[in-house]
Amino acid sequence: MSNEEGPTERRITRLQDELADLSDGQAAMARAVDVLKEDPRYSWVGIYLMEGDALVLGPYRGKPSPHTRIPLGRGICGAAATSRSTIIVDDVNSDPRYLACSVETQSEIVVPIMRDGRVLGEIDIDSDSRAAFGREDQQLLEAVASLLAENL
Ligand code: SME
Repeated sequence: MSNEEGPTERRITRLQDELADLSDGQAAMARAVDVLKEDPRYSWVGIYLMEGDALVLGPYRGKPSPHTRIPLGRGICGAAATSRSTIIVDDVNSDPRYLACSVETQSEIVVPIMRDGRVLGEIDIDSDSRAAFGREDQQLLEAVASLLAENL
């Protein structure tokens, strides 16, 4: 086994560096969204924040979404918040929970941002390619979610 950093570790290290100086949660979220959007597979990148029993859209990059407020019982976003775990959907069109943001979207990953077992929000990413998200994306985004949780 090599001890060298692979691409995912390098991306995590870069985001750690980028977010290290940002103690303001809003600035950290905006920066994380910008850096993540650099990945051409990520066609829409956004962060939702818990407000009462709904998820409210914060910073995002991509087309405007009609879903700026998602009740906990709705969508893949609501399901991830309720289950407190990452959800990857390889084909959004065959998932009845899916709330469409763009007709081009084919797959989605939603990663809860949690502190002390409580969901503070989530990172939501869409791709125009089917089954775009794998274990490496999950590892990267869960690391970013923990970094963001420190300042929310
Ligand atoms: N697809 C999400 C809704 C948010 S938009 O993709 C930006 C869902 O099913 O919860």
